[in-house]
Amino acid sequence: MSSSVLSRSLLWILSLLVALASWRFIAFGVEASMNFMLYHAQQRPLFFFAHVGFAPLALLLMPVQFWTDLRRRRPAVHRWIGRVYAVSVLLSGIGGMLLASQTEAGTVAGLGFGLLGVVWVSVTARAVWLAREKRIAEHRVWMIRSAALTFAAVTLRIYLAVSQILGWPFDLSYTVISWACWVPNALVVEYWLLRSKKPAKGGL
Ligand code: HEM
Repeated sequence: MSSSVLSRSLLWILSLLVALASWRFIAFGVEASMNFMLYHAQQRPLFFFAHVGFAPLALLLMPVQFWTDLRRRRPAVHRWIGRVYAVSVLLSGIGGMLLASQTEAGTVAGLGFGLLGVVWVSVTARAVWLAREKRIAEHRVWMIRSAALTFAAVTLRIYLAVSQILGWPFDLSYTVISWACWVPNALVVEYWLLRSKKPAKGGL
């Protein structure tokens, strides 16, 4: 299996799993399934449910937008999914920023998540604007940036699980991960974009 097929499969599987697991509150309720979020659900239900309702939808739709065949054969479907993705990012991003400003996880974690929310919504808005301007090559680049930030939902849960397996203190791990879940994603994507711009060795 080529590394590209492997990384695409991982993107699909992990995004699907985390999105479905995030909607567990629909089946079991917030108290039973994410008790540590109950204070958000009680004190700011609109922002909380906007976030946990729409962010998983953005995560679920994101890999679909990188499906080349669908984009080529059904451009209208790509555009419609893109609109739903963008609205989901906007609503859940605003919710996420509000949750970050009120989190009991501390100021550093609040800043980490808050800045992620600002960057996520801004980058996605720029990607949408470029698509409307028909600047498709740039739209692609900004959507890749947006996807890397959406994927923070997956990296966060992987790092959190690893930190607990290693027995690291939860509060400190959570604070570090509020930044580590997205800053490296953004840097890796910038590096990858930079490299893919360079002409191949021995090329023209
Ligand atoms: C990328 C921008 C995002 C920001 C700024 C953000 C922000 C936040 C914040 C601040 C909280 C509350 C944490 C606390 O107070 O301790 C939270 C919880 C949550 N977020 Fe996000 N989030 C983002 C993306 C996502 C995505 C893409 C998903 C999709 C799965 C998601 C799903 C959840 C869920 C399910 C919770 C409830 C707690 C849990 O189950 O881990 N978030 N988010």
